[in-house]
Amino acid sequence: MDLISFRELEKKDVEDYFQRAEEMDHQLARKKVEKLDGIVATMFFEPSTRTKLSFQSAAERLGMQVVDFLGETSSLKKGESFEDTIRTVDGYADVIVIRHPMEGSARLASEFAKAPVLNGGDGGNQHPSQTLLDLYTLKKMKGEFKGMNVQLVGDLKHARTMRSLLFGLSMFGANVKLVAPRGLEMAPEAVEEVKKKFGAKLEFSEEIDFAGADVVYVCRIQEERFEDKYEAMSMKKKFTIKPEYLRGVKNDMIILHPLPKIDEIPPEVDKSPHARYFDQARNGIPMRMAIIKKALEG
Ligand code: NCD
Repeated sequence: MDLISFRELEKKDVEDYFQRAEEMDHQLARKKVEKLDGIVATMFFEPSTRTKLSFQSAAERLGMQVVDFLGETSSLKKGESFEDTIRTVDGYADVIVIRHPMEGSARLASEFAKAPVLNGGDGGNQHPSQTLLDLYTLKKMKGEFKGMNVQLVGDLKHARTMRSLLFGLSMFGANVKLVAPRGLEMAPEAVEEVKKKFGAKLEFSEEIDFAGADVVYVCRIQEERFEDKYEAMSMKKKFTIKPEYLRGVKNDMIILHPLPKIDEIPPEVDKSPHARYFDQARNGIPMRMAIIKKALEG
């Protein structure tokens, strides 16, 4: 069973992932993880720290083995095609986790592979395992989604994490405010889709103001996806979460971030009790264990 796009999931599927991740959390806490056989291949054609290492760590904790494909030292360098590369790795592994800069690459890989393919991010399109762990984090930290005021802040045009998350939050009925500098707004088709599908009532702003927010979810300016690098540089300087923005916010407001954070969250903010992004990153383990196990069950 593949995991390619969050848009293909239904509420009951997501709830099943939550339940499975919770079970994994229990097994980890008891240091008694039910073991699985098999090999997970990680194929990252773009940089990664959390997604790759947490999938690898999740596989190892499940008792599985990991083989890591490295584009730079592979036969891609000799000109081998994407298709042949995927078909080959498919013969060596039971699950394939892939990240690639091209939108639609994970889906394409799933057409060439018999093993389940898990999308670790395809260009600016989708990042379903991140959204599953983000929603799981919100459920653990905040409980109910209904009535939760969430702000998505940053480069909403290029960030796949935000696109997947907007869909997930709308599915569960959270109130979402989209905060982006002009020119980096969420793609209109993504906005229309959640309005139509879930009746999402969204707010839009170019200004940072955290009043009334229960959750502020920030992402970095996705410099590598800009055609004009100079524009990316200037945006980076403009859109940062200054510590003074946290004055007067709700006491229990939390700040999440898929990481890596660059200039948008200065290090002083890390010390604030609102900052919960490293706890969020830790939830990648139980959720990705759940994702691998579910994929293998088919
Ligand atoms: C994100 C990604 O790769 O989309 N990181 C992640 O997977 N945790 C966010 C980013 O690169 O900005």
